[in-house]
Amino acid sequence: MIGNLINAVIAGIGVCVPDRVLTNNDLENIVHTSDEWILSRSGIRERRIASPREATSDLATVAAVRAMEDAEVMPEQVDLVIVATNSPDMLFPATACLVQDRIGAKNAGAFDLAAGCTGFIYALCVGSQFIATGSYSTVLVIGSETLSRFVNWEDRGTCVIFGDGAGAVVLKPVSEDNGILAFKLWSDGGAGRHLTLPAGGSKRPATKDTVDSKLHYIQMNGHEVFKLAVRAMGKVAQEVLASAGLKKSELDFFIPHQANLKIIEAVARRLDIPTEKVLINVDRYGNTSTASIPLALEEALRSGRIKKGDHIVMVGFGAGMTWGGVAIKW
Ligand code: COA
Repeated sequence: MIGNLINAVIAGIGVCVPDRVLTNNDLENIVHTSDEWILSRSGIRERRIASPREATSDLATVAAVRAMEDAEVMPEQVDLVIVATNSPDMLFPATACLVQDRIGAKNAGAFDLAAGCTGFIYALCVGSQFIATGSYSTVLVIGSETLSRFVNWEDRGTCVIFGDGAGAVVLKPVSEDNGILAFKLWSDGGAGRHLTLPAGGSKRPATKDTVDSKLHYIQMNGHEVFKLAVRAMGKVAQEVLASAGLKKSELDFFIPHQANLKIIEAVARRLDIPTEKVLINVDRYGNTSTASIPLALEEALRSGRIKKGDHIVMVGFGAGMTWGGVAIKW
């Protein structure tokens, strides 16, 4: 407990990835690329791709149900559903409302949160504030994406990077000194032009011309995004460690957004964190955007790499540009 505020803990976690695996070799049949190029530039070997029947809300719903089971929480107990996503089912209603209905969280409010690939970190921080103030006692925070629907499958610079998936956590209050210890959120809208999906909003509504010009797909200046991501995630990790009162040597586990292995390695080098303390699964899922951190966290927990009392730092970076970090005592 900090002052009169109550700590929020992750009381349960659940994930969902589509069954379909798309390997680098499969991609060689779609665009002019190679397994060697993709692996050496990004560390990605394969990614999951949603079936035509699966939308973002479908993956989110499965992840949410698993997280509630893990936390031993009934749907009626959920006070709030936050879905962080860049690939909502529709512009509105919010994907969170679709999930709230599907899981039977009939006593909950629900909204989507858009903060690029940092969305899960943002949503975790927002959700934890409702717990901290004592307003709510059960908050469901979900990161879910089907970005495969928004990549141009003729653009080898982007289609090889992204994958689909979802992860959800249940936040609960805790009376001990564990849970979320510190967080920091950042944005630099001026650099936002480096990663955009230009059309389909109020500025450029869908027309035949926007479709023909492929403006409904992700556009990215990979080089700039790479540099910004390394700098930003390194800095925010140090900031949350400092505000949690932790020395770098006290950090037990580091979970960065899984954008690219080279980015993760560069951030870890900057921070001087040994690789055995860093969770990496970008090789199997690619960049799943808001789902990447909960997918990585779940893997670390399932494999027993995180133990009670461990200090964890999670950092994200994405379109906006946005970045942020959270320090947790497990
Ligand atoms: N296969 C083969 N060649 C490719 C390719 C692919 N999939 N994608 C790009 N290339 C080519 C380019 O056309 C270019 O060729 P040229 O020199 O003849 O023009 C060359 O490879 C180098 O391209 P470049 O974009 O400079 O490569 P890079 O080393 O920067 O790697 C990324 C590209 C996308 C892997 C890298 O920039 C990156 O990961 N950036 C960060 C992206 C990210 O994380 N975004 C999400 C943030 S949340």
